[in-house]
Amino acid sequence: MIDHAGTFGPMNWYARGRRRSTEKWAANAIQAARSSSGADQIPANPVEAIAFHRDNTGKELPADTAAVELLNLLRPVVAVSNFIVFAALALAQHRQWKDKLCGSDDADLHRFAQEVRRYYPFFPFVGGTATRHLEWAGHAFKPGDWVLLDLYGTNHDPRSWEDPESFNPDRFRDWQPDAHTLIPQGAGDHFTGHRCPGEDITVDLIKRAIQSLAAAPDLQVPAQDLNFSLSNMPALPKSGFILDPRPPVRR
Ligand code: HEM
Repeated sequence: MIDHAGTFGPMNWYARGRRRSTEKWAANAIQAARSSSGADQIPANPVEAIAFHRDNTGKELPADTAAVELLNLLRPVVAVSNFIVFAALALAQHRQWKDKLCGSDDADLHRFAQEVRRYYPFFPFVGGTATRHLEWAGHAFKPGDWVLLDLYGTNHDPRSWEDPESFNPDRFRDWQPDAHTLIPQGAGDHFTGHRCPGEDITVDLIKRAIQSLAAAPDLQVPAQDLNFSLSNMPALPKSGFILDPRPPVRR
């Protein structure tokens, strides 16, 4: 559903088919929660929180709406795995960081996770239409005009990032947080705009994964194709990223 969202034709139809069957699965999960636990209990998990959520008129959500809400939560959490693959790749290609991050403080993990989100591609851009006449940086927009915000380009813009094509978590050592330069998940303010509200969760999940990977001894990276294309949305190395947990055979 995530991998083929940016394609046209058969791959996109396949993605839509997957979406329909997953919506059915989620609707069943909502119904199962509703028939097995009481609405007056404290929800034990996200499925129950959504299943028993009441709208402003006091009614539970229709099962198909609740199913879509469940997937709106599940889908982006699963999507974080793409960043985790790139974090594993970065650890393998910058071995000095593996030792540095093993048992290191939270600040190093945070810098590494931020650099993974800046350096590697995910969504190339977000689009929207102007709702009123406006002017920005000398460009005039009328209502309905399309605007594309270049997320990947902004994360690699040499005006904001020194040597942007090198992977360097230490660049975040003295970085002053700026809502308009590090924008893999949208720009601006979470509260007043559409910037991704899951950003903190994303950083946290990447940090936890890096911590485990950095602590794992003897992870081998067998021969594979680690190239990725910026034309895929979202991008991933061709082989995914295969790790072999067995210690190397000594000859
Ligand atoms: C791989 C990790 C993720 C990426 C790359 C990502 C990216 C994005 C982007 C680009 C947007 C649109 C921003 C805009 O229009 O300006 C967005 C919106 C959103 N994201 Fe994420 N996201 C991720 C993870 C998450 C997580 C973990 C959650 C929640 C559990 C989440 C929930 C949302 C929601 C609810 C919106 C819509 C916000 C709105 O329209 O006001 N995302 N995300």
